[in-house]
Order: sequence, then C-alpha cells, then structure tokens
Amino acid sequence: MATEDLIRLAAEAMSYAYAPYSGFWVGAALLCADGRVYQGCNIENAAYTPGNCAERTAFFKAVSEGQREFEAICIVGGHNGVPNGYTAPCGVCRQVMMEFCCPETFRVILAKDEKHWKEYSLQELLPMGFGPDNLQNKG
Ligand code: THU
Repeated sequence: MATEDLIRLAAEAMSYAYAPYSGFWVGAALLCADGRVYQGCNIENAAYTPGNCAERTAFFKAVSEGQREFEAICIVGGHNGVPNGYTAPCGVCRQVMMEFCCPETFRVILAKDEKHWKEYSLQELLPMGFGPDNLQNKG
C-alpha cells in the first residue's frame, strides 16, 4: 500500500477522535501483513487514566480480530484535528508495538499530510526494547 493511502486512512481515523479534555486529536492506520488496514483514534475519559491512544486502539482492534503480523503504522495528530507537527507514539504505545512487531522492519510513519511525512523503524524509536524474545532466554 502506498504511504499516501495509509496517511489518508490515518487522517480519516483522526476525525473520529474523542478528545474533549486535551483537544488533541490523533488517528492511526495500521497495515497488516495480509494488506488489511485497521484504523484507530484516541479515546479520552472523564476519569483521565482510562483514555486510550490512537495507536493502541488500532492494535487492539487488529489483534482482537486475529491479526498477528504487522508491517507499518501511520500516525496523524494535532490540536482539534489540525496537524501542525509530527505526532510521535508515546512510550506505552511503542511497548505495545514491541510485543507484536519486528523492531528492525516495522515502520512507523509520522505524517502531517499526504506530502509531509517521516519514517522510522521501531528499533529507532525504542532502542534495546524489552519484548517477547527476552522471556525466551534469547538474549
Ligand atoms: N495520544 C495518542 O493518541 N497518540 C500519541 O501518539 C500521543 C498522544 C493522545 C492521548 C491523549 O488522548 C492525547 O493524545 C493527548 O495526549
């Protein structure tokens, strides 16, 4: 799938953000190995801590429907849905990516619009991350 298409799907997901407390809307589009894309938005809560990030919404939707192999995620965010800068995933979301994705090959695309985006590997965003392999005595 072209990066521009993934950005468009992340931007569409951002429009569904439920963020009445921060006013910061985020959308994510998660590309699976089978080509399917799962979209997610951030979902805040009056009690604050139950809120969920867009990235984890997308991952949990996908995993709960049987997906286990992922290629890339695109993230778009901004105040009231206007992306002025690049929205990087929080540490908790990076850790969730670490659970399911190959750090060297999983791509994290941060986008402002279809023409302005940056791409990182999960390894770059979470060096020396702790993942499933660490529990298998693989080092
Ligand atoms: N947020 C995300 O959904 N993803 C990110 O990558 C960064 C932060 C959300 C959480 C909260 O609803 C709002 O943005 C402000 O932190």
